[in-house]
Amino acid sequence: RYMRKPIVAGNWKMNGSRSLVKEFSTLMDGVDSAAVEVIICPPACYLSEFAGADFALGGQTVSELDNGAHTGDISAQMLIEFGCKYVIVGHSERRDDHGETSKLVAEKALKAINSGLTPIICIGESLQTREVGELESFLAAQLDALTSLMSAEQLSKAVIAYEPIWAIGTGVTATPEQAQDVHAFIRGHLASFSEDLASGMQILYGGSVKASNAKELFAQPDIDGGLIGGASLKVEEFRQVCQAA
Ligand code: G3P
Repeated sequence: RYMRKPIVAGNWKMNGSRSLVKEFSTLMDGVDSAAVEVIICPPACYLSEFAGADFALGGQTVSELDNGAHTGDISAQMLIEFGCKYVIVGHSERRDDHGETSKLVAEKALKAINSGLTPIICIGESLQTREVGELESFLAAQLDALTSLMSAEQLSKAVIAYEPIWAIGTGVTATPEQAQDVHAFIRGHLASFSEDLASGMQILYGGSVKASNAKELFAQPDIDGGLIGGASLKVEEFRQVCQAA
């Protein structure tokens, strides 16, 4: 396998509290930080509560714009000031709830990269798209929106997360084979843009990953870790997912 360090990122979504942050102070007990990059992406208002954490932090979205008159938004500069190294962009919940298009997602990713943050760019199809046989063309279009805005060098500073919408929060995980097939397709599609980009890209799987299925998923050759929702809200469960990487 090409040298790609596994990543396990917890996406807390709109969940959490100050007391949950405190519980996570023991997260890295028994986790080898040389073997896996562990990231927690809490709601932005809790970022400062993680000061001094021995794992990385990420935002859940970022504005494509600079600081200014944009009520409710948060800038890359602010995320960095509060200790973030990463930011999730283009989660399917943002695409659905806030109408984020693939073009906007690419702009947010580029803003993150130009500011020194690593974007974790989410792509993934609905069940309907899969059932009508449009999985590959749908994912290709989501990827092409990235490559049409960014050079291979720029995009190499990002991470991709494949999250099939039908597997998010449903308890229905893609099988390791299903996930591997799609990850191989994503890597192959990136290779048509740049071979180096494709072989270096960390591609995470997301969708009902938990302690009991993480090992098998992460063992697949094109799966470089996971983006975890529900199972990232329980410190013991999330620690076991981290240990599986
Ligand atoms: O971003 C992570 C995510 O959407 C997966 O959520 O709860 O299925 O692990 P969950």
